[in-house]
Amino acid sequence: MNQDTVSQDSVNQDSADQDTAEQTICSRPPLDSERGHILVVDDYPMNRLKLVRLLQQQGHSVAQAGDGEQALTMLRAEPFDVVLLDLLMPGVDGMQVLHEMKRDSALRDIPIIIISAVDEIEKAAVCIETGAEDYLQKPFNPVFLHARLSASLQRKKLRDLEKMYLQQEVMMRQNEKLATLGKLSAGVAHELNNPAAAAQRGAAHLMTSFARFQEIHLRLSELRLTQEQAAVLLELDHRALESAKKPTYIDALTRSDREVEWEEWLADQAIPDPWLAAPTLALLGYSRDELAALLAGFTPPQLTTVMEWLECSYTIYGLTEEIGHGTARISEIVRALKAYSYLDQAPRQMVNLHEGLDNTLIILRSKLQPGVMVQRDYAVDLPLIDAYGNELNQVWTNLIDNSIDAMGGKGEIHLRTRREGEWVVVEVEDNGPGIPAAIQANIFDPFYTTKPPGQGTGMGLNISHNIIVQRHKGRIDLHSKPGQTRFEVRLPFHPPTTP
Ligand SMILES: Nc1ncnc2c1ncn2[C@@H]1O[C@H](COP(=O)(O)OP(=O)(O)OP(=O)(O)O)[C@@H](O)[C@H]1O
Ligand SMILES: [Mg+2]
Repeated sequence: MNQDTVSQDSVNQDSADQDTAEQTICSRPPLDSERGHILVVDDYPMNRLKLVRLLQQQGHSVAQAGDGEQALTMLRAEPFDVVLLDLLMPGVDGMQVLHEMKRDSALRDIPIIIISAVDEIEKAAVCIETGAEDYLQKPFNPVFLHARLSASLQRKKLRDLEKMYLQQEVMMRQNEKLATLGKLSAGVAHELNNPAAAAQRGAAHLMTSFARFQEIHLRLSELRLTQEQAAVLLELDHRALESAKKPTYIDALTRSDREVEWEEWLADQAIPDPWLAAPTLALLGYSRDELAALLAGFTPPQLTTVMEWLECSYTIYGLTEEIGHGTARISEIVRALKAYSYLDQAPRQMVNLHEGLDNTLIILRSKLQPGVMVQRDYAVDLPLIDAYGNELNQVWTNLIDNSIDAMGGKGEIHLRTRREGEWVVVEVEDNGPGIPAAIQANIFDPFYTTKPPGQGTGMGLNISHNIIVQRHKGRIDLHSKPGQTRFEVRLPFHPPTTP
């Protein structure tokens, strides 16, 4: 309620002052950066009108609110550049509006200029401590109004620009991550799917095998075997377990020959369906004499059940081993993926480049197989470096991915690391067709690709360049001729600044 602080006379007097001042101010047209969308909040209509008129003459667009509640509603409905806020109002007063705006992240950055009467200077000071940008004393002086408003508008525009830049930066980083993630997800899905499917198949097979094993075991117990015979079974079981754990590689031809030999031997022992147990015996590594000696005390009917039992037992051990391998492989990929992406870790830390390269290889395995040979030539004394590990892994992914593509999935990739003074160097080299000299200057440009639509976005090298040069203050150099393309990445032990 400012009626008592701004009398009608002073308004008239102000108008006179204002006209002179307006002429000074309006002698040059306002710049775009000096114009804004302003909300005037004052419960006293005379003050409001005066301010609105002044502001409009200065080129601003103006809206007005007669109390704090209306002001907050308007602020939440449309974007304002500056708020001119009276302190003393009925209901929600200026101080409450200020507090409310500072609490609300969407309104926090709108500059607030407090309109204060002479006897409210102390309150205005408290407002500035609470986050108001400036204050303006009644009666209004157009020159001050112009100056303070321009300064606030400038600051607001800078803040908006900064926010926009930060948002773009976040979006860019997000896009970069998505681009590399997209490249990986197909491969990783494939990598996970194979062992998962194998483990699933193994578990289903294990179930039926175990049911069969129970039935054979019952029959075996009815044979009333002697202690010596039981000891032989234990020895056979032990051999089956060991051989399932460490299968020895036998080429298909030799294996088939051995199976035929064992089939004949089993047939000689009068065992029905000899082809059932023959593959197991071919893998257990006994000679026929050895097995004959071991099984000498068994009658042919006993031997039939024992062979069935041995084959089933070996199958069960093999399946258990297979499920173990499949699930271990899944764990390895998940571990590599976590390490690769630095999940749950600080983005910047002391990074072991060799681990990063190896995790990248694990994740790209399905793309590397079967035609690409990877040679790793790592320096033994390579120090850890202060870096954004997850981003560096994106670089290795992009470089290796490009090499695989260039070689059409067949060829050699050399990964080398070395120390060079205060730098570490990582090289990714392939023996593909090379990059023609004419396009070498373009390959780091965004969206530059020679791949057919849908196969390349042309962002891989641009992202890698940004990560190495801007984020790590390093270098990325290319040496390419037909049959040899080498990307050399140089990284400082400590990037000088944190961008
Ligand atoms: N090792 C390489 N051998 C031959 N050409 C390469 C090699 N690495 C990059 N290039 C060339 O550089 C171009 C740009 O590579 P970049 O990684 O930026 O994009 P891209 O691989 O085409 O697409 P993506 O965004 O999927 O990575 C490639 O299209 C290719 O022509
Ligand atoms: Mg690429």
